[in-house]
Amino acid sequence: MPIEIKTSSEIESMRVAGRLASEVLDYITPFVKPGVTTGELDRLCHEYMTGVQQTVPAPLNYAPPGYRPFPKSICTSVNHQVCHGIPGERVLKTGDVLNIDITVIKDGFHGDTSRMFCVGEPSLAARRLCQVTYECMWIGIDRIRPGAYTGDIGYAIQKHAEAHGFSVVREFCGHGIGRRFHEEPQILHYGRPGTGVRLEAGMIFTVEPMINAGRREIREMADGWTIVTKDHSLSAQWEHTVVVNDGGYEVLTVSAGTPERPEAVLRAATA
Ligand code: MF3
Ligand code: CO
Ligand code: CO
Repeated sequence: MPIEIKTSSEIESMRVAGRLASEVLDYITPFVKPGVTTGELDRLCHEYMTGVQQTVPAPLNYAPPGYRPFPKSICTSVNHQVCHGIPGERVLKTGDVLNIDITVIKDGFHGDTSRMFCVGEPSLAARRLCQVTYECMWIGIDRIRPGAYTGDIGYAIQKHAEAHGFSVVREFCGHGIGRRFHEEPQILHYGRPGTGVRLEAGMIFTVEPMINAGRREIREMADGWTIVTKDHSLSAQWEHTVVVNDGGYEVLTVSAGTPERPEAVLRAATA
């Protein structure tokens, strides 16, 4: 499949889907507290998506080739879980950090975004990993403009992560998105400038770096979905869906609760 260039009406539909995905994260934020189970967070998000938004939770029964159907409506990845964590009986406790990854479908279009959440007061090291990973996502996004390469994004992310002594997960990447959940191009979160795909206005894809405090190697759990770090070190991830435009880019997964861009870090990274 070639890389789709979205029309202005498709981009408008993706803006709506992106805002709705981000609003699910806004909605769930006050519920992320010690004592709640990840299964309860899933139930609440599922009710909000299907009942209030009238969106379809894209993860539910999602089954790419080689995978069994994903059994829940959101992904919750706690501490050393890297991504694709399945919500369940696990009770969140103070000191945990977790990623909540939301993908909604509205009028046939996907919006995909995730944030890190602190439960109570995590360690300084855990909060630092979440912050640096957030900076990594933005430093990558900030490379996006027509004529730039996907490798420019990956290079910028890898450089920032490794400067802090962290590592970049290689096995999962950002992806084109639209009427399909995962489309081309692949957006690697590591690499070399000037390599990969040349960006054009109208491309829509995610940037979603997974950054480990320790080594980059991962392992898949017996549930067939949950990815964890091999060395049990903490892992963090943030995700936005972005459209390339003539001026550079527009982030589509924005809502009232979207955290601010880290301006100082972006200035330092381009200096
Ligand atoms: N939302 C994830 C991504 O960013 C994909 C989750 S697939 C699922 O690409 F089946 F685990 F939900
Ligand atoms: Co994604
Ligand atoms: Co996602």
